[in-house]
Amino acid sequence: MRFLSTLIFLGLLTSSCSPKASNLENNLAQISDAKVLQFAIPGKELYENYCANCHQKDGRGLGKLIPPLRDADYFKADIHRSIWIMKYGQEGEILVNGQVYNQAMPANPNLRPLDLAQIATYLYNSWGMKEGVIDAPLVESYLKSPPAEN
Ligand code: HEC
Repeated sequence: MRFLSTLIFLGLLTSSCSPKASNLENNLAQISDAKVLQFAIPGKELYENYCANCHQKDGRGLGKLIPPLRDADYFKADIHRSIWIMKYGQEGEILVNGQVYNQAMPANPNLRPLDLAQIATYLYNSWGMKEGVIDAPLVESYLKSPPAEN
């Protein structure tokens, strides 16, 4: 009887853990580099808290209102510009995959360079991208001066 209840308990434990495990795997599964994962795991959580309401968990954005980060020419073109936008927000017309977007994105004054580094590392190593670690000192240097064309 004791053995049986232990089995049931273990069964419950694994079944309640497995959705989390497979969720974690999603797009972190393509990452094999341990240093990249060290940034991307907290980065995924920050992304889901600060960005996914608008850009969606899967990075595809929302119709003509919110541009995609996944398979997006604008996003791939310039990491410096993306980090600038994450911190300071963005308004005015931009062209993403041939579609015009023109809605204000709010700034994130409370995200520190390390937070931004983790989010950027997560995003730039998801959905087929493989940019490696984008670390906090690099983020700090990007935040010192605006990107070339913006
Ligand atoms: C309130 C909704 C909202 C939130 C939250 C938000 N964004 Fe945005 N984001 C937008 C909108 C709208 C634009 C397009 C701005 C424009 O039209 O000029 C945009 C544009 C961008 C762009 C440039 C366009 C592109 O497709 O590459 C990047 C990069 C970006 N956001 C990343 C992020 C990240 C990372 C976060 C979280 C830290 C975030 N955004 C949070 C709404 C949001």
